[in-house]
Amino acid sequence: MKITLIHGQNHKGSTYYATRMVAEKISGNIDEYFLPKDFSEGCSGCGTCLHNGRDYCPHAKKVEVIFNSMLSSDTIIIGSPTYVMEMTAHLKAFFEHLFTAWLGHRPEDAMFSKTAVVIATGAILGMNGVTKSLARQMFYLGVPKTYKLSFRVMAASWDGVDNKVKKQIAAATDKIARKITSQKGHPTPGIKARIMFSMLRRFHKGNDLPLFASDKKYWVDKKWLDNKRPWKNN
Ligand SMILES: Cc1cc2nc3c(=O)[nH]c(=O)nc-3n(C[C@H](O)[C@H](O)[C@H](O)COP(=O)(O)O)c2cc1C
Repeated sequence: MKITLIHGQNHKGSTYYATRMVAEKISGNIDEYFLPKDFSEGCSGCGTCLHNGRDYCPHAKKVEVIFNSMLSSDTIIIGSPTYVMEMTAHLKAFFEHLFTAWLGHRPEDAMFSKTAVVIATGAILGMNGVTKSLARQMFYLGVPKTYKLSFRVMAASWDGVDNKVKKQIAAATDKIARKITSQKGHPTPGIKARIMFSMLRRFHKGNDLPLFASDKKYWVDKKWLDNKRPWKNN
């Protein structure tokens, strides 16, 4: 089992420990990244990825390291503390660099067989919104199965977290890890993703907009406008 673990922060607080716990309980080869240490750039909005491809992004070399790790993993685990009710700015900036890998643009076949776990901690409020938002990123990148875990830790560091909450974290991470390790084979997209895919397919059939020319070419080359489907290649 290969795991990509992405931390939305550099430091080792509650989010780090909860996120790391899931990875260790699943067990496997873990590629671990800390943002902003391993990726700190914001999207420059140049549109090069849209027109020429992600390889031409001014930050491609750094994005590639993390995204390639995601593509070659069975499980993707992402953790974020809640910052002003949202995921951290660093994670958001990382995902902005992947927008052309979203379903309607040029999604990667490999993403259609992944399992993801998204984790958020917060002192009081907003962590469910963060996991919802992280799960949305996973959905639009093609990931068929995402587990969400959010924890109200009422603390600003791991040392400050009450033992009762630590036990809840241990139990919840046990449960998710058991679900993942007992999974037979890889997950496949559910009805929502399939409906979205057919809507986008219909869009690209009639699409002759210069803005989405590279996307259309990708869909044609992949034969997704015929009968091929990205989840059937895996
Ligand atoms: C900039 C900033 C914004 C925060 N915003 C929220 C928030 O909107 N809701 C909340 O419950 N906690 C908020 N917190 C608290 C952290 O989310 C909480 O302490 C979290 O568990 C910290 O995780 P860590 O120990 O991994 O750093 C904020 C903390 C910081 C530093």
